[in-house]
Amino acid sequence: MHKNFFWGAATSSYQVEGNNDNDWTEWELRTAKRRAQTAHFNPPDGEWPDFLLNPPAGGPNPLQRENYISGRACNHYNLFREDFDIAKSLGHNAHRFSIEWSRIEPEEGRFDEKEIGHYREVIRALRERDLEPFLTLWHFTLPRWLSAQGGITSPRWAEYFERYAERVGTEFKDDVRFWMTVNEPDAYCLNGYLRGVWPPAQRSLIRAYRATKHFVEGHKRAYDALKKINPSFEVGIVVDLVYFEASRGFLNKVLAWPAANINEYFLRRVRKSLDFLGFNYYFHSRVHYGFNKNDNKMVSDTGWEVYPEGLYKMLARLRSYHLPIYITENGLADARDIHRAQFIKEHIAWMKKAMDEGVDVRGYFYWSLLDNVELDRGFWPRFGLVEVNYKTMERKIRPSALEYKKIIDEAL
Ligand code: BGC
Repeated sequence: MHKNFFWGAATSSYQVEGNNDNDWTEWELRTAKRRAQTAHFNPPDGEWPDFLLNPPAGGPNPLQRENYISGRACNHYNLFREDFDIAKSLGHNAHRFSIEWSRIEPEEGRFDEKEIGHYREVIRALRERDLEPFLTLWHFTLPRWLSAQGGITSPRWAEYFERYAERVGTEFKDDVRFWMTVNEPDAYCLNGYLRGVWPPAQRSLIRAYRATKHFVEGHKRAYDALKKINPSFEVGIVVDLVYFEASRGFLNKVLAWPAANINEYFLRRVRKSLDFLGFNYYFHSRVHYGFNKNDNKMVSDTGWEVYPEGLYKMLARLRSYHLPIYITENGLADARDIHRAQFIKEHIAWMKKAMDEGVDVRGYFYWSLLDNVELDRGFWPRFGLVEVNYKTMERKIRPSALEYKKIIDEAL
């Protein structure tokens, strides 16, 4: 393993900061009650287990309205220094985080110096701890003025995004080397424009297609703007790719092929405007006559199958892009911390196998440093290396975080 390899964890502004005022804020209030009433455990008719109804670390459970309102979240906006101390103590040498656009540009065209100053402090705090900052410009949230204009589907979205990227790039040009334009545009189009479970909560194929096109354009414009500020910036994108595997039989092979290709649709369209590829790995899907037939030998609290080998398979496939790869997210919800250590070890082992075979992987970021607001599911899924008590805001390092540390210590 190369000594310059980056090891760390990832977060996003909305999910950890607290007191955000963006397009999710209003959506949360409008939908919280309904989401509490319709929350179901996976499988859908299963009973909620006691460890999720009465979480050991306290905090709301999935049947309570407050679970769905981000409020103070982890108060990371104020506690970022303490949180980075923890990351440092866990052996990390890098940290992925996002800038909250709604703070930086709360009104159209008005950039907030105080909030820019806040992120300057965040970046400084990372540098002081020798944590290489990996900055994401957009991780699912929009300023309200922009969502009022149609959000990503606004004809001016790419223009606005370029302006925002240019401003942030100029402000932090001496402090940040690694930039990610947008996080999982694919997942956002699916959940925000097709399934309607994230803001803007729409179900429209036309809008989903339009959003995809705009994301492509927005990424390219932001890429060019950032490279103009400093050609030695490393600029990438983050995509969420599923490992689609055909179940036995010829027909399944035929059916899995389009799934695997649609999966990389976005990536193929931006590949010429990339210095690296950010890859979030969570899912495997065994395609069986159009259905998902996973073995589910091990599942997380959210019912997601744990399938580490899929990371290797996807890395082998991504090699054809001839770009450095960073695993920008990989993690699971595991409130009892019973699977996490094994999850991390096995995924890293498969990643190493891919690297031994020549795939150019340069970093691994566990999702997430802290328990946080898991988007539409709210607080109950516990993804953190560090447990958060949402009442006291106390942090507690989970045993699996120390196992991850051992792997890092051995590698560095
Ligand atoms: C997202 C994160 C999210 C994680 C777990 C990714 O899709 O980038 O924001 O919390 O997966 O669902």
